[in-house]
Parts: sequence; C-alpha cells; structure tokens
Amino acid sequence: MILPVLQYPDPRLARKAVPVEEISPRIRELAADMAETMYARDGIGLAAPQVGEALRLVVLDISGPDRREDLRVLINPVLTLSGEELTADEGCLSVPEYSAKVTRREFAAVRAVDLDGRPADFDASGRLAVCIQHECDHLEGVLFIDRLSRLKREMLDRRLKKKATEHAR
Ligand code: NI
Repeated sequence: MILPVLQYPDPRLARKAVPVEEISPRIRELAADMAETMYARDGIGLAAPQVGEALRLVVLDISGPDRREDLRVLINPVLTLSGEELTADEGCLSVPEYSAKVTRREFAAVRAVDLDGRPADFDASGRLAVCIQHECDHLEGVLFIDRLSRLKREMLDRRLKKKATEHAR
C-alpha cells in the first residue's frame, strides 16, 4: 500500500524515533509499504518518521529511482562515520521540489538487523553512505535542510511561505 509522505514543516518529521522492539507482522507490513511508497515516488530512501511512524526503520535502494535491484531494510541502524567530508546534492520526499548541497562523511559502518532479526552489518561508501546518513538523520528528527547554512535555510523558508500563501488564495 502506498502511504502518504509527510511534508516539511510537519512537526512529526522533527520527532526522535524509538527502536523497533519486535519484528512483528505490522513492522513487516510497514517496511513493505515503505518500499512500495519509495518506489512509487521515485525515491532512493525513506524513513519511517516520513510516513508518520516514529520508529527506527529505514528502506533504501540506491539503484533507483529507475531500477529496483538493491532494496535494503534497516532496523535500528547505528552508524559509525569515517573518512573525508564530501558535499553532494540531496533532496527528500518530505521537502518536494528542492535540492541543495549537503556535506556528509565518506564512509559509514552500518550496524542494523534485517526483517528476520538477523544482523545486517555492512560498510557503505559514496552515494550509499550519503543516503544512509540522510535516512538515519530522519530517525533523529533531522532533515537535510537542517544542515544548510542559515542564509540558504532562510531563503527556502521564505520560498515555502510564499508558496503556502499562494495556495491559500
Ligand atoms: Ni529524506
């Protein structure tokens, strides 16, 4: 089932998510729905808070948005970052029609469990590492626009405000 994706400034995007305690049928269904939603919206990652669930659950597939060959479901992911800083364009399904350069780290050692409750640890680099850092930020209630310079952020907020006023008319 395709789920509605919350959009900034929805306050639910700013909540800190809690760990998944048990991989219940509901969690499996949520993960499947999140993957379906991510693909339907041409995304490469989606975190549970974006669909209104304050849980530490992330789906990603960086082979997308045109291909669907590398679906990963991360439950309770913990990241250890290393390497150089790298700056790349990011967007987010919760911040439509906007992208901006964000600085991240080059490598992420990921500790997580999969939908069978088994360890699913791996080392990510490059685009995958960036995507994982973006999605794990969502679990802390942080959006990529929270990492922009103050000037850029103010410009974005003004633009969104203007758009909202135009909609209201
Ligand atoms: Ni996002």
